[in-house]
Amino acid sequence: MKIIPLDTKHTTYQMGVTEQGFLLHLYYGSKVDCDMDYLLTYYDRGFSGNPGDVDDRTFSLDALPQEYPSCGAGDFRSPSLAVRGADGTPGCDLRYKTHRWLDGKYAIPGLPAVYADQTAARTLEVVLADPGAGVEVTLKYGVLPELDVITRCAVIKNTGSREIILDKAASVNLDFLCGGYDLIHFTGRHGMERMPQRVKLGPGSLTLGSRRGTSSHQQNPFVILADHSATEDAGACWGISLLYSGNFSGEAAVDQFSQTRLTLGLREWGFDYPLAPGESLATPEAAMAYTAEGLTALSQIYHRLIRRHVCRGKYRDIRRPILINNWEATYFDFTGDKIVDIARQAAELGVEMLVLDDGWFGRRDDDCAGLGDWKVNEAKLGGPLKDVVDRVNDLGMAFGLWIEPEMVSEDSDLYRAHPDWAFTVPGRQPVRGRSQLVLDFSRPEVVDGVFNQIAAVIDQANIKYIKMDMNRSITDVYSNGQARQHYGKTMHRYVLGVYDFLERLITRYPDMLIEGCSGGGGRFDAGMLYYTPQIWCSDNTDAIERIRIQHGTSFGYPIQTMGAHVSAVPNHQTGRITPIGTRATVAMAGTFGYELDLSLITEEEKEAVKNQIATYKRYWHLIADGRYYRLHEPGRDTEMAAWNFAAADGSEALLSAVSLDTHCNGPVTYVPCKGLVPDARYDLTPVEGSAPGAKAYKKISGAALMETGIPMPLIPGEYNAWSWAVVRR
Ligand code: GLA
Repeated sequence: MKIIPLDTKHTTYQMGVTEQGFLLHLYYGSKVDCDMDYLLTYYDRGFSGNPGDVDDRTFSLDALPQEYPSCGAGDFRSPSLAVRGADGTPGCDLRYKTHRWLDGKYAIPGLPAVYADQTAARTLEVVLADPGAGVEVTLKYGVLPELDVITRCAVIKNTGSREIILDKAASVNLDFLCGGYDLIHFTGRHGMERMPQRVKLGPGSLTLGSRRGTSSHQQNPFVILADHSATEDAGACWGISLLYSGNFSGEAAVDQFSQTRLTLGLREWGFDYPLAPGESLATPEAAMAYTAEGLTALSQIYHRLIRRHVCRGKYRDIRRPILINNWEATYFDFTGDKIVDIARQAAELGVEMLVLDDGWFGRRDDDCAGLGDWKVNEAKLGGPLKDVVDRVNDLGMAFGLWIEPEMVSEDSDLYRAHPDWAFTVPGRQPVRGRSQLVLDFSRPEVVDGVFNQIAAVIDQANIKYIKMDMNRSITDVYSNGQARQHYGKTMHRYVLGVYDFLERLITRYPDMLIEGCSGGGGRFDAGMLYYTPQIWCSDNTDAIERIRIQHGTSFGYPIQTMGAHVSAVPNHQTGRITPIGTRATVAMAGTFGYELDLSLITEEEKEAVKNQIATYKRYWHLIADGRYYRLHEPGRDTEMAAWNFAAADGSEALLSAVSLDTHCNGPVTYVPCKGLVPDARYDLTPVEGSAPGAKAYKKISGAALMETGIPMPLIPGEYNAWSWAVVRR
């Protein structure tokens, strides 16, 4: 068997080509230096057929592990590729043609992809073909050895003379010959995104994904397969992160022979993609990682990958401005003077940027009108946008603006002029979400029209930040353009249109910080992070619920990508009252900002805000670049949530804990601090702003801190938060 190995520092990924040209997947795991085809077994399996040219009843694709299984070649498990001829001929039979190695990491035109220096990555291309069906598939692999990451995508080309139709085109398939696994996936809803679910896989299949047009609040396109015994600190686990922000599907299945298959990629529902002769389709990219060292180590691989090889632009490497957003302070009810007042109060406390949220344009005084009319409402602002921006700049603050380019209100000039720009099915009342319709971003002229309007606004004033929102799920996916495109292409083309919009924005405004948003975290995925280095994590700003949301998000995404703000109490979403120190501790495990009317807080709280800002600046290097450790799963292990950041060399750490409940005469919780040097000694100093009761400790052993930790204070009061600066002596 011809072996094709891919090695990273600690992992090996191996494929094998059989003498008939079938591309098998042999192995993905800890680094090995031998051929892994010895794992394959051949038996005459009932009801598992044999390829037409193979005169051997023990050879069946239904039992062998495959690299990119296609429909119609005798594998009855879930395929990665389902293709048919426009004349109805089903399936294809892909055989190995050639492979080659290239320096550097491949890019995918129009789609987000991991990038790396020419010397930090290599690309493998494996070409498979079925000349009879007119199908050629180039499997691309990006190998980043130092990161222990391997990326994949497939480019499917019509090499025949007749149209073919793709019914499914996944990005990744991973077959496992043996072992029992758990699938960890991340589900949720608006206001409670990315809750980890750990499910023991057994015979049958578990499918997941989104049909909402976005990656969604409900299911994130990041999954982990883990040994049953894998914990945060030990055990085999594999991650797959899909760099895509639209409909997707994943499946984890255990077959008749107890073999496991994991697939992730474009969703087949609503996808039916014709390819004309010569035309090709590139699937979105999937980034895979493996570690034998548990879930924390796996998350840290994704944190490193996304920070330095997915996020782009100036703000990838520098601290983001601490911002104040007016949304929860005013909602739609503001004037230019009110915005400047909010900025003035914030500037006095050290906040660095004012973000003007929804309501500054068109006739947008509530959420029923105005979307699509990206013209400044000067009557509401009391003058041109530039005046407000200049007044904010004069306070020493930068200025940011909210947009929602993909949307249109029926009550808008844009909709009245171009009703065909919205997704609607002729003769049917469209489904409305937040009283708005979705613009057909699969059409370049629609993207152009909206982009030009928004660029004209940005060009009017000194705007340093854009919050790009998207506030409904997509329905009525029917393109009303002149060149009516095939229904099954539209949803994917829409996502390409959104990426095109973002690429134009960052090309024209290279120093602009863009924050992604979709009703909070409805499009929190690695694809979006290629354009927006931070994403508003959730519309739920309640500190206690945010702990769970940020904890779940941290499995696949770095802390510095999570938009997190201190908001007012009682919290607007839950009514809960938490101390301002606790709200800040939680928001500091994120990009950190404020979203409340600071003129309404007490003098004591204002002093606290000043200190919080100084604290965040002081520890930014650890928050952004340190290793992140989940210490207690909120609400599951104990009634204490805790996490810490540690410098890569273990020289310092920032440890935070929040009590989730309060008891009379309760037990003491011990919280560890990880990522330290076991035989070093550390001093622990409570960080200013911690709740009462935090003690300082001197000369504590790194091993003791990592294994047992320190006792949390037992003091009355709800939702206390404490942080310690941990410094090696
Ligand atoms: C969404 C966002 C909020 C806010 C509103 C404005 O819900 O997530 O932060 O911007 O829209 O309408």
